[in-house]
Amino acid sequence: MKTLIKNGTIITDRNEFQGDILIEGEKIAAIGRSICDEKEGDRVIDAGGKLVMPGGVDQHTHFSALCNVGDKDTAGYETTDSAIVGGTTTIVDFAPQDPGRGLLDSIDYRINVRAKDKACVDFSLHAMVTDLMDSIFDEIDLFPEKGISNIKIFMAYNGSPLHVDDGSYYRILENAKKVGATVFVHAENGEILDFLRRECVKKGQLTPKYHYVSRPPFTEAEGVRRAAYLAGKVGTPLYVAHVTCREALDEIKEARGKGINVNGETCTHYLTTTKEVLDHPDFNEAAKFVCSPALRDQEDIEALWEALNNGLLTGISSDHCGIDVAELKQAGRDDFTQIPNGAPGAGDRFSMIWTYGVEGGRISRQKFVELISTKPAKINGIFPQKGALEVGSDADIVIFDPSWEGTVRLADNPNGVDYNIYEGRKQTGKVETVLLRGNVAVEGGKFVGNHGMGRFVPAKMYAGCYSGI
Ligand code: URP
Ligand code: ZN
Repeated sequence: MKTLIKNGTIITDRNEFQGDILIEGEKIAAIGRSICDEKEGDRVIDAGGKLVMPGGVDQHTHFSALCNVGDKDTAGYETTDSAIVGGTTTIVDFAPQDPGRGLLDSIDYRINVRAKDKACVDFSLHAMVTDLMDSIFDEIDLFPEKGISNIKIFMAYNGSPLHVDDGSYYRILENAKKVGATVFVHAENGEILDFLRRECVKKGQLTPKYHYVSRPPFTEAEGVRRAAYLAGKVGTPLYVAHVTCREALDEIKEARGKGINVNGETCTHYLTTTKEVLDHPDFNEAAKFVCSPALRDQEDIEALWEALNNGLLTGISSDHCGIDVAELKQAGRDDFTQIPNGAPGAGDRFSMIWTYGVEGGRISRQKFVELISTKPAKINGIFPQKGALEVGSDADIVIFDPSWEGTVRLADNPNGVDYNIYEGRKQTGKVETVLLRGNVAVEGGKFVGNHGMGRFVPAKMYAGCYSGI
């Protein structure tokens, strides 16, 4: 089957031109101006007046987010249709250890059971430590044959199985380096957070607002500083997940100045939303925004955009985490420390960053493609199969209508959760058509593919953070 996309404005991370793309089977076969006659295509898509971009790569998602803390498997891969409707064709999802299982078993289970017949996007996986059983350190040796090029650890969440102590982190850094894996870190000083949270509870400060009060920027900055220092000692590339504030950026900059190989990302919500949403008097409205690290101030938002433009940060992710308000977030109604952390956003990353970033005059269209697609693909060892409009790349393509004006509504792109944190926001531009490996998955902004069309994408070792992105 040959598909020809004609007359669009093709946008890559380096370029922009009027042209056509010819797809043969699952791959891009040709790209350029008037590359072939219309008759070449079994199917012709007219992209006149539209923008044609590589499908988004969201390198930080938590589908089936709560699978490691009980029998609830919320917002699993069956809800990835929201991601592809929103312009993301590949996710790099976290694979927390299932109860009693190691890293690789949990990865196999995710590929063969959780995602099977459900995924609507292609997916790679990060190993994620959520149980420091002795065997996990040696499992890292087997990453190359499994196609896993990253391992994520949490410095925060002390007292829960997610927390990784510094000694274990150091061991993980050493083993990751041996096989060319990158270490992703959730950098916050868990011990100080623990103290500050307990202090709030002692004083009766129990509403969601105290989530941000008890997670000040310095606790994130200290986590980044320590994580980078130790990574530098071992010589393992470090990727800091969800950077939120100026103080943390300063630490990345200082570490880089000392020659430490540290990169980082931020997320849609940290670029678009300030912490005041947590002051809302209605618990449900505030609890939607409880995520970690906490939301910050406008001056941090400005610093993050600057860092994206100057290369200090190299990706924008959703940190998608589907936890509904009506049930799960209620656990913290009387005590903010019990509110499960995380918010959905995989379906909104592309359009919100276009609206606030490109339309907001903060980033160029090329920078948009770089941050939404190309660099995340490089960092995760799946470029140029993903994240590129190049001959031989997977035909993962978004056709985008930049003239669309409207409002975000959960009903227009249900995400398997009972809210959308961008509900009611103005949106400029809309994903109209999406192809996943040459197959039309979204048409007229609606999912027309099938659950199970998404495949596991094995990653290459020594990915972007090793070679320079
Ligand atoms: O609050 C968040 N971000 N929840 C998801 C887990 C994590 O910390 O990334
Ligand atoms: Zn996360």
